Amino acid sequence: MTSSLFTPFKMKSLDLPNRIVMAPMTRSKSPNGVPGNDVADYYARRAENEVSLILTEGTTIRRGGASNDPNVPNFHEADSLAGWKNVVEKVHAKGGKIAPQIWHMGMVRKAGSGPYPDAPTDSPSGMTHTGKAVIDAPTSAEVDDMVLAYADAAAEAEKLGFDCVEVHGAHGYLVDQFFWDMMNKRDDKFGGTSLVDRASFASDILKEIRRRVSPGFPVILRYSQWKQQDYDARLATTPQDLEAFLKVFVDGGVDVLHASQRRYWEPEFPEIDGEHGLNGAGWAKKLTGLPTITVGSVGLSGDFIKAFQGEGSGTRSLDDLEERLARGEFDLVAVGRALLQDPEWARKVHEGRTDELTDYDAASLTTLS
Ligand SMILES: Cc1cc2nc3c(=O)[nH]c(=O)nc-3n(C[C@H](O)[C@H](O)[C@H](O)COP(=O)(O)O)c2cc1C
Repeated sequence: MTSSLFTPFKMKSLDLPNRIVMAPMTRSKSPNGVPGNDVADYYARRAENEVSLILTEGTTIRRGGASNDPNVPNFHEADSLAGWKNVVEKVHAKGGKIAPQIWHMGMVRKAGSGPYPDAPTDSPSGMTHTGKAVIDAPTSAEVDDMVLAYADAAAEAEKLGFDCVEVHGAHGYLVDQFFWDMMNKRDDKFGGTSLVDRASFASDILKEIRRRVSPGFPVILRYSQWKQQDYDARLATTPQDLEAFLKVFVDGGVDVLHASQRRYWEPEFPEIDGEHGLNGAGWAKKLTGLPTITVGSVGLSGDFIKAFQGEGSGTRSLDDLEERLARGEFDLVAVGRALLQDPEWARKVHEGRTDELTDYDAASLTTLS
């Protein structure tokens, strides 16, 4: 029987032979923000081995405060864009599809860090998630320019030949900071008491991107309930709230929703549909009808936060994932650490070589193999 993972998927101009997506993973191996040949080859190896869509590591937009690390690739300087063009060409040569994940860290960047240490830090309102005011809130005009910077990057992505684009709206970075009531205390159109009000920033980004790219160019939004500042944080606590929140993105012209979870098997609203209920991507699909991407510990038993603390993880069966995909709970499956470690992971799964899948070793973070 064909695994549901190896069935085709089509959305606008994106035509994929299977459902396996490489999750965006920062590698900090692009000196001066330029992804080199080693980065291109790293992605091309995954494309060559049956990863149908690669979401690149977060790549930063043209606001000086977008990045805290000069080794994170940027998406606005000429050398970096040339490096990305090389990445696209190498991935395409292996038959893969690829989207950049466009990123702004917001207040996660410490003042004085990154490629432009003198640039001010961008934020929704200069407040930390504990409610401490640490910098001035940006003006409405400055927020408008942040919106334009995302759209510039998306337009550039299409020009360079990428197949689609993903906006990083998750994990407590800039877009997510706007969603979060603790950090967004604005009293202009970008703030407000409801989650829908605070989604105006993302809405403007999506609408501006839509205006700047071709109608057939898919736009993906990644969002998460959890934040790196607080794993238990939740933006939407009821399906009604989630529906209203996601409608903002649908109205903004998003094509695919990428619901980031740390463990895909965890139900989004267990109080509604039980311990084995729909996960985040499942609810997003049910509430919007859009295709969705699930993610979180695919093929592994331990979650990725531990990877940053140097911890490995054992392997985990894909049976339940394949069943859920076959039922149509979600459409695509993003795989992080398993693919970071093993470029042949997807091919091994396809060929039933599961005995060759190894435990995840955090040491794999040190190389671009
Ligand atoms: C080294 C590393 C870097 C990551 N960088 C990013 C990133 O740049 N953007 C993002 O949205 N998520 C990032 N993530 C999260 C992954 O995309 C993914 O959601 C997470 O690892 C869970 O998938 P996994 O359990 O299959 O690894 C990163 C994860 C790891 C392990």
